[in-house]
Amino acid sequence: MNEENKNNGRKIKLAPSILSADFGRLNEEIKSVEEFVDMIHVDVMDGHFVPNITLGAPVVKFIKSKLPLDVHLMIENPEKFIKDFADAGAKRIVVHSEACGENLRAVLMMIKSFGCECGVSIKPATSVDAVKDVLDLADEVLVMTVNPGFGGQSFMEDMVPKIRELRALGYQGDIAVDGGINDKTAPVCIDAGANLLISGSYFFKAVDKKEAAQKIKGGL
Ligand code: DX5
Ligand code: ZN
Repeated sequence: MNEENKNNGRKIKLAPSILSADFGRLNEEIKSVEEFVDMIHVDVMDGHFVPNITLGAPVVKFIKSKLPLDVHLMIENPEKFIKDFADAGAKRIVVHSEACGENLRAVLMMIKSFGCECGVSIKPATSVDAVKDVLDLADEVLVMTVNPGFGGQSFMEDMVPKIRELRALGYQGDIAVDGGINDKTAPVCIDAGANLLISGSYFFKAVDKKEAAQKIKGGL
């Protein structure tokens, strides 16, 4: 069975999370994997929304890739920074529903107004109900399969029903999963209807990253 048939004709895509890359040679690392991945996943953490700090728009500006940048904002008040990330080269900006509250729709529209694709993410404790009203607008729903903040955590299998629930609601956009994605957990997510796999530590620790990519996407 090829990649596309497993998921109702949807292309299965892989976005490596650069959180697990060598930041000292980030652009080289990205370039070396570009041929067999689909997007570059950039984790932005503010030390408030999650208990860790990573990078901001001034660093994103220096990321060079021919692939689209999928910027995952794990920050409070994301609306204050969307323009900065759009200007820095983000193709898609994903905000957390928990950080937007009642303004979620307005924040997604703001992302679109800057010419970017928009996505919404839910933490493990948040149900699909939190994003139901924006499914018509969101290019991506990101189901967190760990509590956001750190790479290298274990996949939470009890998040898988959320993927099925989103597809059962008729959602046709990208369903992404992030946290503990490897050759064992990716097929479970793909089978449930996810088509965008985000992988940090498993992918970047692999000696043969091309093979790791094929294993995640189900091609091996
Ligand atoms: C976690 C981040 C993830 C993380 C995934 O908060 O959003 O993108 O880098 O790393 P792994 O694949 O190691 O769980
Ligand atoms: Zn992420």
